[in-house]
Amino acid sequence: MKHFIDFHTDVTIDELDALINTAIDLKAKTKASVPHPILSGKSLGMIFSKSSTRTRVSFEVGMYQLGGQALFLSSDDIQLGRGESIEDTAKVLTRMLDCIMIRTFSHQDIVDLARYGDIPIINGLSDDQHPTQALADLITIKEHKGSLKGLKLAYVGDGNNVANSLLQACAKAGMHISVATPSTHACPQFYVDQALADAKITGSEILITEDPVAAVNDADVVYTDTWTSMGQEDQKAERVKIFSAYRVDKTLMSHAKPDAIFMHCLPAYRGYEVTEDIIDSPCSVVFDEAENRLHAHKAILVHCLANEQ
Ligand code: CP
Ligand code: NVA
Repeated sequence: MKHFIDFHTDVTIDELDALINTAIDLKAKTKASVPHPILSGKSLGMIFSKSSTRTRVSFEVGMYQLGGQALFLSSDDIQLGRGESIEDTAKVLTRMLDCIMIRTFSHQDIVDLARYGDIPIINGLSDDQHPTQALADLITIKEHKGSLKGLKLAYVGDGNNVANSLLQACAKAGMHISVATPSTHACPQFYVDQALADAKITGSEILITEDPVAAVNDADVVYTDTWTSMGQEDQKAERVKIFSAYRVDKTLMSHAKPDAIFMHCLPAYRGYEVTEDIIDSPCSVVFDEAENRLHAHKAILVHCLANEQ
């Protein structure tokens, strides 16, 4: 059983390579209009307890392009939202579906879905992790830079789900990663330790700092995300104050390599975590990242489902 819940637990170094290569191959087939119904007859359930544009559309279209079908299951409409347990939901859906993608708040709920169900579970974002995004990001970096190993990614802002997954993904890929956050909003030490364990094997170097300039210094990739993630809307005013020194603007970007690219998982809030003259400039690859969600997710679906009966 192959789940895709987080990079450290579910993806080996070889599997990461294979996922990236499969995504690049499927992207070429899609662009050339070569049919690839590898998952004909398979059904994916997509449970959403939070909003989504990219994740929802790319999984649904991706499953269609692979010859299978996807069902959108808003937690407002299914019994999970009215208190049916994760355990019973997992046991019921296991009898009807081949795979579940879930976007929700508690990371433990996703782990429990995998524990009680008997089909592959894909993490479409939790409060702790956003691994499908990180895979699309690695593919985008490889496309723009030609390789991953030894490159430096600097993440600046909130030590959130996107930051945690980038830490894990870069460590697995042998990329160096520096993360600059206020000390009150750093990535949990648990995820830093997991990344350090993988970094020992791949040669990745990890820097955790409060200083955005130290993080961005000589970086090949500069990455940021919203200061206010889904579920934190009532803290927005306070967060704008806390993170104001972590905005990616021309001055901060000037510390990166001259050919550095700018990345953001989107949705972006211009004037907050990034200025318009960066996100809308030629160094920005944010829409390539968004497009690559489609190809990354198709690779994940094939990885989780192609060998399932
Ligand atoms: N980046 C991302 O996951 O976008 P959505 O919230 O639109 O799915
Ligand atoms: N950190 C953001 C990512 C959105 C794709 C959030 O959780 O809202």
